[in-house]
Amino acid sequence: MKTILVTGAAGFIGSNFVEVALAAGFKIVGYDALTYAGHLENIEELRGNPAFSFVHANILDTQKFESVLHEYSVGLVAHFAAESHVDKSITGPGAFIETNVNGTFSILNAARSYFETLEPAAKKEFRFLHVSTDEVFGTLGASGKFSETTPYAPNSPYSASKAASDLLVRAWFHTYGLPTIITNCSNNYGPKQFPEKLIPHMIFCALQGKSLPVYGKGENIRDWIHVKDHARGVLLALTRGIPGETYCFGGNSERTNLEVVKALCVELDSVRPMKVGRFESLIKFVADRPGHDFRYAIDDSKAQRELGFVRKYSRFEDGLRETVRWYLEHFEWSKKVTAKDGAKTTYDWSLLGG
Ligand code: NAD
Ligand code: DAU
Repeated sequence: MKTILVTGAAGFIGSNFVEVALAAGFKIVGYDALTYAGHLENIEELRGNPAFSFVHANILDTQKFESVLHEYSVGLVAHFAAESHVDKSITGPGAFIETNVNGTFSILNAARSYFETLEPAAKKEFRFLHVSTDEVFGTLGASGKFSETTPYAPNSPYSASKAASDLLVRAWFHTYGLPTIITNCSNNYGPKQFPEKLIPHMIFCALQGKSLPVYGKGENIRDWIHVKDHARGVLLALTRGIPGETYCFGGNSERTNLEVVKALCVELDSVRPMKVGRFESLIKFVADRPGHDFRYAIDDSKAQRELGFVRKYSRFEDGLRETVRWYLEHFEWSKKVTAKDGAKTTYDWSLLGG
């Protein structure tokens, strides 16, 4: 079975992807710098698994990356490592250029050198898959959906850095013949998401009785996909996708932010009710995010048609219920991951009795 080198393997989507790919029988080498968003806790259960190895290193280290490709005779690369939070990109864009643009440039160079050393049969099979976002397409109005043919129009430093890295990946295919594939996905939710992002952040604020900060009027719309569905999609693209192509993945679950926050309040009311009142009363409308994209929605019919992509989570509220329960059952995880230097989000766990 082939070995997949997974960058960002200790992050949210990377660690969920590792689970999916191991279950499908692949060997995995995780490669991660363990930034504020990367945690060994996310891959703890894999310790001792002979099919899994972990390398603590930075994608900016081109030589290290190339040596790992050789050492493990890597057949496929799935590149998840990135700075991923839009709000952080607004207050500190430099890290996004460094990791997302220069980091991707660095490993493209390493992969290209490695690829040149492969035998023809191995060359035919090698793939470099770059995981990107629907945010590179900019924003939608009330109607329409993004697809593989939508022009790029990024609006935040985060999405601009992802767009830049997508274009580098594209150029390495056309100029150097590196067999690259790009995937563009909508908003993920599920277990192990760092609590700076909407859903886990709201859960932890709610459990402490703190206000739930909804940007603007909460009318912005996101298309939510369960992280395991995204991970399965990436594996399909890696194994069945055509080099030079791009594939979009979405959740077919458009919701306004206010709908999402209200839905998780209802869920918390039923599993962990407040002593008095309902969680919804904690919602507070706060200043909007600068340049806040209004709506994202994805048409992923190409992935369905060409890769056989099928979502297992067809109803967002079912996935959300499972997700809320996962966070309630993983307080220790939450405490550990938010304690790290550089984490924007701090919680007063004593209020939760722990
Ligand atoms: P995350 O922030 O949870 O994890 C990122 C991981 O990358 C962390 O483990 C971190 O330690 C690692 N990393 C960061 N800089 C690194 C570096 N210089 N070298 C090595 N490792 C480094 O992010 P996520 O939400 O899991 O997103 C993963 C990828 O998927 C990103 O490329 C993101 O743009 C893309 N994406 C995310 C979503 C989403 O909804 N979260 C949707 C579409 C696409
Ligand atoms: O669309 C894919 C993108 O989805 C990924 O590329 C990004 O890596 C990922 O972080 C996510 O970006 P968003 O900016 O959409 O996700 P976030 O969870 O930060 O915010 C979701 C929506 O909720 C957005 O409209 C802003 C709003 N929001 C967010 C936070 C953190 C709030 O209203 N309040 C909040 O406290």
